Amino acid sequence: MQAQFITVEGVEGVGKSTNIAAIEALLQERGIEYVKTREPGGTEIAERIRALLLDPKAESMAEMTELLLVFAARAEHLEKLIKPALARGEWVLCDRFTDATFAYQGGGRGLSTDTISHLQSLVQGTVRPDLTVILDLDPEIGLKRARERGELDRFENEAQTFFNKVRSAYLEIAQNDPQRCVLIDAGQSLEQVQAELRARLITRFDAMGA
Ligand code: TMP
Repeated sequence: MQAQFITVEGVEGVGKSTNIAAIEALLQERGIEYVKTREPGGTEIAERIRALLLDPKAESMAEMTELLLVFAARAEHLEKLIKPALARGEWVLCDRFTDATFAYQGGGRGLSTDTISHLQSLVQGTVRPDLTVILDLDPEIGLKRARERGELDRFENEAQTFFNKVRSAYLEIAQNDPQRCVLIDAGQSLEQVQAELRARLITRFDAMGA
């Protein structure tokens, strides 16, 4: 079977890292070769762009600059890491991808979905995730967790209303693309979230013969 491209999405503090570890455990159980990566980032140059995007001192960055930097990092990531891994037959497990652009730059910043779709085609060609886990949580709870973790990055400094819009955009994505997206209520206990995620992924993996 063809190597699969899996992405994980959600607002800050939603528990992406723990749930990514649960996905990794399942991939390992099934003997699937994979690469774990993240966006923005994943390659040396893309990680440098990430540092600029998250730098709280870059507060005055224009929205269009932010959008183009996100896609510049993605172009690098796709050419140097994602496409080669998939071509070798390795699955790719990525912490955030273009749904985050639709949610943060589209929903949060209010940039046009058409512009983002246009850049998506330009940068990605036909590459799209095969499966996307969207962890849904009230941003108030997520932000509280993110704040407890320590110093805030440029996005985490945004107001609650920004994150409410990000969350709504993610919910809309899940609703519009149920074939690709697995929406999980991350407001449950961690055990419940992981059990649900595992069960739903097993169903999907079994269906695709993985
Ligand atoms: P995180 O990976 O630690 O969650 O932080 C990445 C931040 O970058 C997060 O606040 C979301 C933001 N981001 C965007 O705004 N647009 C994007 O396309 C991506 C991938 C991330």
